[in-house]
Amino acid sequence: MSMTFDTPITIALSKGRIFEQTLPLLAHAGIEAVDDPETSRKLILDTNHEMVKFVLIRATDVPTYVQYGAADLGVAGKDILLEHGGEGLYEPLDLNIARCRLMVAGVKDADISGRRLRIATKYVNSARAYYAAKGQQVDIIKLYGSMELAPLVGLSDLIVDLVESGNTLKANGLVPLEHIADISSRLVINKAAWKMKHRTLMQLQEALREAVEKDRGE
Ligand code: PRP
Repeated sequence: MSMTFDTPITIALSKGRIFEQTLPLLAHAGIEAVDDPETSRKLILDTNHEMVKFVLIRATDVPTYVQYGAADLGVAGKDILLEHGGEGLYEPLDLNIARCRLMVAGVKDADISGRRLRIATKYVNSARAYYAAKGQQVDIIKLYGSMELAPLVGLSDLIVDLVESGNTLKANGLVPLEHIADISSRLVINKAAWKMKHRTLMQLQEALREAVEKDRGE
């Protein structure tokens, strides 16, 4: 699908998996990157459309840039959106990429019954909401990465983390215990931009929807 852009559009993406898996979907809408983010150190990337730019930011920052309108739209993992809360954002489309699960995991056969548990996680809000819904009181310990280490060195009883293949858990002697949520990347659009740039953003969203459905074989 070839689109015409009569208004400037900024798209927020994070480097790595999301960027790589979003590019083919954007290509379906006729948008292609000019610079390669893996070799370029630029944070604002040109595309084949003069009016369309990519901004490359940390995955956790994507909802914030879109919320404040610094980017009109972006691609963010549902894990990140659950933590952010989604204020100021529309989340119109599941891109069905970067799929994994948010899970509780712990040391195999560890006896952790009958006491208040400590849960280490980067996903504090999701973990809190999950245990609140179960009516279980826990202490949440905020970490920024390498959660798998926490139960191994006695920092926590359990972790809440993303699991894709399960290899990271396995390599550290941990097992998945409870499923919290299925995760995938979502298209997010700034609410004000959706009104002001409606025609262009609507077209772009429809082109992405087509690309997702094509990938799903629908
Ligand atoms: C995620 C997650 C796990 C790992 C799970 O980390 O935090 O560590 O992937 O994948 P697996 O089940 O296939 O082993 P990621 O590599 O995204 O980096 P991060 O720690 O920076 O989030």
